[in-house]
Amino acid sequence: YPPERIRNFSIIAHVDHGKSTLADRLLELTGTIKKGHGQPQYLDKLQVERERGITVKAQTATMFYRRIINSSDINNEEQSDYLLNLIDTPGHVDFSYEVSRSLAACQGALLVVDAAQGVQAQTVANFYLAFESNLTIIPVINKIDQPTADPDRVKAQLKSLFDIDPEDALLTSAKTGQGLEHVLPAVIERIPSPPGKCDLPLRMLLLDSYYDEYKGVICHVAVVDGTLRKGDKIASAATNQAYEALDVGIMHPELTPTGILFTGQVGYVVSGIRSTKEARVGDTLYHARSIVEPLPGFKPAKHMVFSGLYPADGSDFEALNHAIERLTCNDASEYGARIISTIPTVPYIFEYSDGSKVQVQNPATLASNPGKRVTACWEPSVIATIIIPSEYVGPVITLCSERRGEQLEYSFIDSQRAFMKYRLPLREIVVDFYNELKSITSGYASFDYEDADYQTSDLVKLDILLNGQPVDAMATIVHQLKAQRIGRELVDRLKKFIDRQMFEITIQAAIGSKVIARETISAMRKNVLAKCYGGDVTRKKKLLEKQKEGKKRMKRVGSVDIPQEAFHELLKVL
Ligand code: GTP
Repeated sequence: YPPERIRNFSIIAHVDHGKSTLADRLLELTGTIKKGHGQPQYLDKLQVERERGITVKAQTATMFYRRIINSSDINNEEQSDYLLNLIDTPGHVDFSYEVSRSLAACQGALLVVDAAQGVQAQTVANFYLAFESNLTIIPVINKIDQPTADPDRVKAQLKSLFDIDPEDALLTSAKTGQGLEHVLPAVIERIPSPPGKCDLPLRMLLLDSYYDEYKGVICHVAVVDGTLRKGDKIASAATNQAYEALDVGIMHPELTPTGILFTGQVGYVVSGIRSTKEARVGDTLYHARSIVEPLPGFKPAKHMVFSGLYPADGSDFEALNHAIERLTCNDASEYGARIISTIPTVPYIFEYSDGSKVQVQNPATLASNPGKRVTACWEPSVIATIIIPSEYVGPVITLCSERRGEQLEYSFIDSQRAFMKYRLPLREIVVDFYNELKSITSGYASFDYEDADYQTSDLVKLDILLNGQPVDAMATIVHQLKAQRIGRELVDRLKKFIDRQMFEITIQAAIGSKVIARETISAMRKNVLAKCYGGDVTRKKKLLEKQKEGKKRMKRVGSVDIPQEAFHELLKVL
């Protein structure tokens, strides 16, 4: 297949608008998977996706499509065979980076919009990601079989928001099959073929990687220029490491060895890369010893939310470490062992009176009394897009201002739907914002966000101390104005969740050396006098003294058991 016969495209959509179902239908139409293969949504591979019902990881499939336009074309079937690479993208709000990296290998995208729900926040975000990547966008209004479908209204929204010509929209039902026959012809006609050159040295874009128990690290690649053959020596632009292409092929949809990948193709390569850390998404792979300019690639994943993981049982540390190594390219959240995850945090920047600046990812590492004055702090912010039915505007504005949001835009996309843009501190949305937004809008709000710049802020470190000892996993950085309330609530909640123990426990919330909230959990009192009858006062006194001593010792050495539920409870406060 020369590049002119190849099309690389993605399907982008707001969550639940039917992206995976449409992908399945296209795979069926091209015979890539059997109809009614009994495993709905083939592309939602990983179990975590099934459990959560969302697509987490981009998966890619190659389809062979023979296009027959009219009888004269049948005589020339060679001319009408196409190789179509469908690059699946996650539709969920938290994965816009994954969307952008999938789009970098595409020339076009199907923008799927639910005919009843209309344009939603992620439709807007995904449209702009695709638009900024210069992709050809084919609007697909899906679920037209629903009784509440209103394709004309959706067409009007697409026109008013993105200036999309209503004539360009395809109307489909991925459920009944209606209109699906127009989708692949539109892909071929409207989306340009990949622009690479066969006679240039090999350049491949690393799209994704995952660890396979038998084969090792499997990389998904898009061949931009040149040809990759099994046995070739390849090198990474990011790490300078060299490898051998041990197995090369396409995803059809399972790994199918072909021994070769040509310009414009998307496929996989197994190259003996040991750790997924070496397989960096966005990296350029090329023939070892050839000199090429690395591809512009896409931005490396920027880690913006951090949470500490501690094994619930200390002896599991090595096993946990090992599992995370293996899984970092998949999803560390899959690990099944008992772990304690700390309060999620974001990277803050603190500046001190001596001019030094530190970035703080783990609040526990920020000295509570640094011995120098903090002169300025900054925190990362996001630009959030929220689309809601107009009757929910009031509660949403209240929620955003409680979360320290600044309204940037407020308009209407049609007579019933409001569109708002807010700048919000990232910290305020990482925990529970989306759930809260859904709950105050009876589930109707749609939400998306993109990273924005750092903003100055007024931050303090809030320590939680149990019997005077700070608990690292509970340290958090909060806005000055919220510190008092959060400290009080944290202490109150912890009191409810920590079981009484043989010794007294004091729980304190403190900023530096200043305690802002305090509670105590009294000890379970063992009745040491139970066996003392009569009035031997000195013996009684002695026993009580002894008990007091013992308690003191336990308090000093005793480690308080903190259940994971206590951490979940803390999240609700923050
Ligand atoms: P994520 O994978 O979570 O991003 O969602 P998605 O956009 O891939 O949506 P998915 O394909 O999972 O479809 C969501 C729901 O809509 C499923 O229950 C589908 O069965 C249903 N659905 C998809 N297409 C149609 C359609 O054309 N008509 C109707 N009535 N339902 C559809």
